[in-house]
Parts: sequence; C-alpha cells; structure tokens
Amino acid sequence: MLKSFKRWMGSGGNSGLTQSELLEEIRKHPIPEHIGIIMDGNGRWAKKRGLIRTAGHAAGMKRVRDIIRAADEIGIKVLTFYSFSTENWKRPKEEVDYLMKLPVKFLKTDLQELIDRNAKVQILGEKEKTPSFTQKALEEFEDKTKNNTGLIINFAINYGSRDEILRAIHHIIDDVKKGNIDKDDINEELMNRYLLTCGLPDPDLIIRTSGEIRISNFLLWQLAYSELFFTDTLWPDFTDILFYEAINDFQHRSRRYGAV
Ligand code: IPE
Ligand code: IPE
Ligand code: MG
Repeated sequence: MLKSFKRWMGSGGNSGLTQSELLEEIRKHPIPEHIGIIMDGNGRWAKKRGLIRTAGHAAGMKRVRDIIRAADEIGIKVLTFYSFSTENWKRPKEEVDYLMKLPVKFLKTDLQELIDRNAKVQILGEKEKTPSFTQKALEEFEDKTKNNTGLIINFAINYGSRDEILRAIHHIIDDVKKGNIDKDDINEELMNRYLLTCGLPDPDLIIRTSGEIRISNFLLWQLAYSELFFTDTLWPDFTDILFYEAINDFQHRSRRYGAV
C-alpha cells in the first residue's frame, strides 16, 4: 500500500505510543473543536465472533461512553455520533427495535455521568418518528442537560443529511413567503442557521470506522472542509487510543481551504 494512502487510512493503533504519550503529543497542537463519528462495523464485529448483530450494537454503545470520556479529557467542544440514519429503517425489524431501545439503556447507565461532566446532549434528526419510548429517553437526555455548558454531544438519530438540507430549504422558502427574510439574504451563513447544527462549528474531523470509505448521508453541507479519517477498525474495537491517534493524525495535516 502506498505510504500516503496508508496514512490517510489511519495507522490502526500502531503509532507505538502509550495513551499518556499520545495525550502529551496532542496537547502540543490545537485541538479540533468538532469531531463527527460514523460508528460503523457493529454487525461485522458480532459476526466475526459468531454473535447476532445486536450484540455488536451493545458492544458499540460502550465505545460511545469511552469516546465521550476521551474527548472530554482533551477539551473537545462538540462530538457528533452518527447513531441511526434515515436509511437504517430498511434493516430487519428486530434489529431496528433493538437500536431504538439503546437510548433508553444509555439513559439509565450514562445520563448521570453526562450531567456530572456538564455535557449537553442534543438530538439531530426527527426523533418524533422514533417509537415513543425512544423519543421519551431522547427528550429526557436533552431536557436534563439543556443548561449545561461543557462538551456538546450530538446524537444523529433518524438523521439524513439530504433530509436536513431539504427541510432547511422548505423552511427558508416559508420564511421568504412570510416576509421574515428577503431572497437576497440567502447565503451560506443563513443556510447554516437553518440546519440542525445551527450555532455549532463545522466538523474539523470526521472519523469513519469499519473500512468503508464513504459518507453515507452524514453532514453533507457541514463537511465541505472537514478532514476525513478512515480506519479499518470496527466500531466496537475503536478505543480511546485509536481516537487519540486519529486526532494526532489530523493535527499533522495542512488545511488550506482553497488558499495556498
Ligand atoms: C453501525 O454498525 C451501526 C448502525 C449503522 C446503526 P452496522 O450495524 O452498520 O455494522 P455493519 O456495517 O453491518 O458491520
Ligand atoms: C452509516 O452506517 C450510518 C450510521 C453509522 C448510523 P451504515 O452501515 O448504515 O452505512 P452504509 O449502509 O454502509 O453506507
Ligand atoms: Mg454498517
């Protein structure tokens, strides 16, 4: 494999550095403000172990906790977890049912820690279309953390970026018709305000696990200048060390935004 391509794919945990060495290294450089994560590979992780797919989702949920802790440790401001896409409804009913129960479980096990961390949970996506028990758990997360001022954690659930963009367009047209805004006011900054990520910085870094090199309808508008990091590691195997390695890789890139 070409060296540059290998670097782009991520080192897969072989930087050889310990966690404390990595932390020391990371703290020498600017920390990304916003990291988006496409958590992929739960099903394959389970299959490799002869388990049913939902066992992979249960294992994956634990990694969410680890990555939140790791991100909070280094002062990341926003973490966005792609948890369930608008396309994931196509999966078998049992799997969808299981995934919809995860927020309820996560609420029981992790809400208190998130409150203690001063973290603020926000849901990106149409939670109204999820089962009532899921919606209730998601609303409780948002409600109990809404005044917190620390790490912002977005869970993208029933989220699709094309859907988000279309909704923004509808909303903008409505506001033009109502006279709330003028057609000439429509620019990038206005568009940002009509998206679900309103008020948040664009992701500096997007990580996708499991070896798939695609975006799968995640933050299409917002990622225009994000750095992308793909790793073969399956999400349930994605440790805090691998997360720190991805950040360290990001810190050595040159972001030019079209300039020289
Ligand atoms: C990611 O893992 C979790 C969700 C998309 C909900 P997958 O369930 O997609 O795992 P693979 O890709 O089938 O291995
Ligand atoms: C992307 O993973 C969606 C989430 C991680 C929630 P998928 O497994 O659904 O993506 P595809 O189908 O491989 O593109
Ligand atoms: Mg997948």
